[in-house]
Amino acid sequence: MTDKFVTIYEVGPRDGLQNEAAIVPTKDKIALIDLLSETGLRFIEATSFVSPKWVPQMADALGVMVGIKRKNGVSYAALTPNMKGLEAALSAGVDEVAIFGSASESFSQKNINCTIAQSLERFAPVAKAALAAGISLRGYVSCVIACPYEGAIAPAQVGVVTQALLDLGCGQASLGDTIGKGTPETTGLLLDELLKTVPANKLAGHFHDTDGRALANVKAALDYGLRCFDSAIGGLGGCPYAPGAKGNLSTIPLVEMLHDAGWETGLDMAKLQAAQVYLQRNIAGEKHVL
Ligand code: HMG
Ligand code: MG
Repeated sequence: MTDKFVTIYEVGPRDGLQNEAAIVPTKDKIALIDLLSETGLRFIEATSFVSPKWVPQMADALGVMVGIKRKNGVSYAALTPNMKGLEAALSAGVDEVAIFGSASESFSQKNINCTIAQSLERFAPVAKAALAAGISLRGYVSCVIACPYEGAIAPAQVGVVTQALLDLGCGQASLGDTIGKGTPETTGLLLDELLKTVPANKLAGHFHDTDGRALANVKAALDYGLRCFDSAIGGLGGCPYAPGAKGNLSTIPLVEMLHDAGWETGLDMAKLQAAQVYLQRNIAGEKHVL
């Protein structure tokens, strides 16, 4: 891997499909993931082992994980909010699990039904068991710029939660601009704070594109040394507990921007197009696809 390499962490099958209004058949999710597996992606977030009462779209997590063709060299990840989720994810053979906290108290309550402090207590045994099982652990911090319920979030508060997730053993913390309110300026202010104590290679950018600034925010984060970005094929997504959160940053425009600027991603554009066309024809419909 050269120093011009940027890692794309594909979250469409999870962050995208969790937000579809109609239940997507498991076989269509599997087909999408199988197409994504052929594109050169090394990280695909396939599903989440969460409560089906909270997120019915992810109720088929086990079916998805056992149905996909596992491609060598691809790490298949899932969200796990608690021990129940972790145990199910381990039995399904995931390569990586993610614990997901928030820098906003209100969002933490709405999304995972507990305070930030309680979430960190709940994540501790999940992290320990994941690491003991020999699989990778990722952390998410939601609302790193703004919260749908509280408005602006202070960078120092993001720093506290980010550090807590890294202290639990997360190899990387993904910084979620959950409702897409970030600008290059606020992204810079956030990273000015975080990079005082956290190395850039421990951070990923997770930008939602609500106001069309996700690509500009990626460019700002690249200038700060971040080299991993989450995106969703077709710009799918949002969060059921973040009203106003539209799509994730779309994978193809992200990769095009990076390639045009001389970055390497290892991704095959034609195969990404094939996955996006499948999505458009079979799952999301043209209105969603950028
Ligand atoms: P709770 O209601 O407080 O939990 O929810 P509970 O322990 O009382 O359990 C309630 C019921 O759920 C019980 O079933 C449990 O067994 C079941 P019952 O006895 O009533 O039949 N349950 C589970 N079932 C399957 N798998 C599990 C599980 N856990 C409990 N893992 C809980 C707390 C955390 C479970 C719930 O709030 C939850 O699942 N939340 C997930 C919400 C979610 O997935 N949000 C979207 C992902 S986050 C996001 O999109 C942001 C991100 O993209 C970054 C960004 O953009 O910022 C990551
Ligand atoms: Mg998200």
